Amino acid sequence: MAPEPNPRVLYAKIPSSQHLIPGEHLVYDPAPTIDLECPLAKGQFLTKTLLLSPEPYMRERLRDPAINTYSTPMKVGQPLVGMALVIVLRSEKEGLRAGEYMVGFTPWEAYTVQPYVDARVEYKDFPSYTFDMDSLILKPVQDPQGAFPWPRFCSCLGVPGMAAYVGIEKIADVKPGQTIYVSSGASGVGSMVIQFCKQKGLKVIASASTDEKVKFMKSLGADVPFNYKTTPVAEVLAREGPIDRYFDNVGGEQFEAAVNNMSLNGVVVICGAISELNIPREQRYGNISTLFHRRIRVQGFLVTDSPDLLGRFFQEIPVLLAQGKLKSEEHLFWGMENGIAAFLSLFDGTAQAKPVVVLDPKYGASA
Ligand SMILES: NC(=O)c1ccc[n+]([C@@H]2O[C@H](COP(=O)([O-])OP(=O)(O)OC[C@H]3O[C@@H](n4cnc5c(N)ncnc54)[C@H](OP(=O)(O)O)[C@@H]3O)[C@@H](O)[C@H]2O)c1
Repeated sequence: MAPEPNPRVLYAKIPSSQHLIPGEHLVYDPAPTIDLECPLAKGQFLTKTLLLSPEPYMRERLRDPAINTYSTPMKVGQPLVGMALVIVLRSEKEGLRAGEYMVGFTPWEAYTVQPYVDARVEYKDFPSYTFDMDSLILKPVQDPQGAFPWPRFCSCLGVPGMAAYVGIEKIADVKPGQTIYVSSGASGVGSMVIQFCKQKGLKVIASASTDEKVKFMKSLGADVPFNYKTTPVAEVLAREGPIDRYFDNVGGEQFEAAVNNMSLNGVVVICGAISELNIPREQRYGNISTLFHRRIRVQGFLVTDSPDLLGRFFQEIPVLLAQGKLKSEEHLFWGMENGIAAFLSLFDGTAQAKPVVVLDPKYGASA
């Protein structure tokens, strides 16, 4: 059989702590090919990548491996690795058949012999707080058969949805009548936090960077959606607060504004700090004596800390989605050649919603 093109997005060079440069740090490489009839060893299987999910944590992985943080780094000279929807083309793995769909980590390339090996980082000599990202292996998922569109597996049924669920169910300890502020309220995580909190009877204040996103947050039920680019966060929180809970997706100045507007015994859920990912580590923000003065409990978490909750997540959320009781939006980028733009859209404000890279147009319908 003639070799098939196997385009990929390569992690070509470790970025400094500043922004990623396409063509330098991340390179679209259309040259590789693959023989789709290649021999597979026992336990191996061949997948075709259908959808890719660019996510903020991937930026933290693109670093000097000598720097310790919560995630293992990625390997220079290998494709990016991240969450994706794939279909099994051939399988020599027991219990796995051609035609099955799977969600989990895979390299950013069109076809992959699984389990991928070259892009894996050996999980050895890391501090105990470092999570082995390559352990997020592909797992079978059901064909939703039209109950909801495929890109939902990257947004509300993917890492963002799970993070919102774990943050609210495990950390936030929310009660009806309370007021919560969620930053990046139109993001994959934020859009689910808004909906979970409305279902639980909270007043929800939520921010995003454009008026379009403000409309989206309103459609999700946010009581006070606002554009943080045009209205200062501190001003809105002083008017609409005090807040009992802060679901922090961005860190930095918004964190400080939220803490300064918290009520007694408030809780801050630290889900992420996307505003800090592209600035030098030594310039990252810190307050934080107010946390102490107001006895605020602050707790970071990784979605992967709570496998126990995720069983419940997959029982409850697909049903609500299929019933139309949850909404989700994705911003679709078409083709591997737009993969880098999709990833950079996380940081440059161009993502209109949770980005998803569609490699096979059949899977791109996003109702
Ligand atoms: N703890 C966990 O296990 C876990 C799991 C998943 C995600 N997270 C974190 O949750 C957060 C949201 O992730 P997601 O997957 O939902 O992201 P997403 O859907 O890809 O959205 C990212 C959004 O972040 C906002 N943003 C980008 N740069 C920013 C800046 N400098 N200041 C303020 N906002 C900025 C942008 O929204 P605007 O245009 O509105 O600014 C962007 O669209 C991230 O911090 C991520 O690291 C944590």
